[in-house]
Amino acid sequence: MRPIASRISVMSGEGALSVFARAQELERQGRSIIHLELGEPDFHPAGLVNEELKHAVDRGKDRYCAVQGVPALRDAISDYLQRTRNIRVTADNIVIAPGCKIALFMAMMALIEPGDEILYPDPGFPGFPSIALGFGGVPVPFVLAERNQLQPDPEEIAARITQRTKIMITNSPGNPTGTVYSDAVQRRIAELAVKHDLIVLSDEIYARILYRDGYRSMLSYPGMEERTVIIDGFSKSFAMTGWRLGYAVAPLRLVPALNMIAVNTFTCVAEFTQYAAIEALVDRDRATASMVAEFAKRREQFIRDLNRVPGFRCLSPEGAFYAWVNIADTGSSAEEVCRIMLEEAGVAAIPGAAFGISGKDFVRFSFASSMDNLRAAIERIQRVSSAWRRAPALHEK
Ligand SMILES: Cc1ncc(COP(=O)(O)O)c(C=O)c1O
Repeated sequence: MRPIASRISVMSGEGALSVFARAQELERQGRSIIHLELGEPDFHPAGLVNEELKHAVDRGKDRYCAVQGVPALRDAISDYLQRTRNIRVTADNIVIAPGCKIALFMAMMALIEPGDEILYPDPGFPGFPSIALGFGGVPVPFVLAERNQLQPDPEEIAARITQRTKIMITNSPGNPTGTVYSDAVQRRIAELAVKHDLIVLSDEIYARILYRDGYRSMLSYPGMEERTVIIDGFSKSFAMTGWRLGYAVAPLRLVPALNMIAVNTFTCVAEFTQYAAIEALVDRDRATASMVAEFAKRREQFIRDLNRVPGFRCLSPEGAFYAWVNIADTGSSAEEVCRIMLEEAGVAAIPGAAFGISGKDFVRFSFASSMDNLRAAIERIQRVSSAWRRAPALHEK
């Protein structure tokens, strides 16, 4: 048989999904597993969103619809971004996609020529380098180091820019570290983007899941409006992962290219979900705020408890719902620590290398799970922690 295209072999899967598969296998064998591996809110959309969904189906909103997304939803996103992020974009700048990942994929497909270099955060969402490679791009990591409080180092980024650099991917708040990029870092990144004529793909999917005040989109910095593509959607902020609903906010010159990809792939996003999503954005139940308040409580408890596990240390994330734990002091590899936690304690978490080479001494836990689950997970981990040696320099915070 003829071979499968080489672009597939250069792409990679997601560590979370393979840990999830093993955890499910153990569950089928009757084991109790606490799932802290997936990046998925343990909430469901607000009741009114579901009501709107039913209403839209009843109204016959189940047809092919506008390729770019229904105008009413694009208008609602434009209002929402102005209200929550203080940025002004019009419905014409917005393209609806079946998930943020597809919006990211479309933006990269529209922009990358073989050999183009794409700067991206390491550790970071595995899709960033994988999709770039799939389009013949050359992903170039910039490191989120503990010594910089897991912030990007703009000077390192500047040093990595070459004639071939075309795109810089930013992700604040970020997966897997929960880092909210500081204003100083973003300002400098924007200056570099303008100076070197780069396009910034700003993945803002966690922008509403914040434990501090004040969020600034990359698009709001001087000179950035014409060179920023925001990637966002409904999966995390509105607990709608399975709805597959995301969007790109792009400069007008890029929109026809994104529409061209939509026409040639998914045609349009399910119409009834788009009408229901308007209700999610309006959020009359204040569902996002109550979900984030709950995440904030869990964050406080879970980060404190993780720092008491022998050999573990982690910073408190300013956004998203992940604990990014340095396990170097356990004396074991992250893979071994995760194996012990899953196989012997029934706690599923992800070895950090799944997020890039800089993650090799880390483990990612999602705290989008109930307080009781998080407490039970810590008890289980404490019980098996003697399997890794208690390190001399244990950090307790
Ligand atoms: C940074 C980041 N971007 C994109 C996605 C994918 O979002 P969606 O489920 O809407 O495709 C995720 C999901 O984990 C993510 O963490």
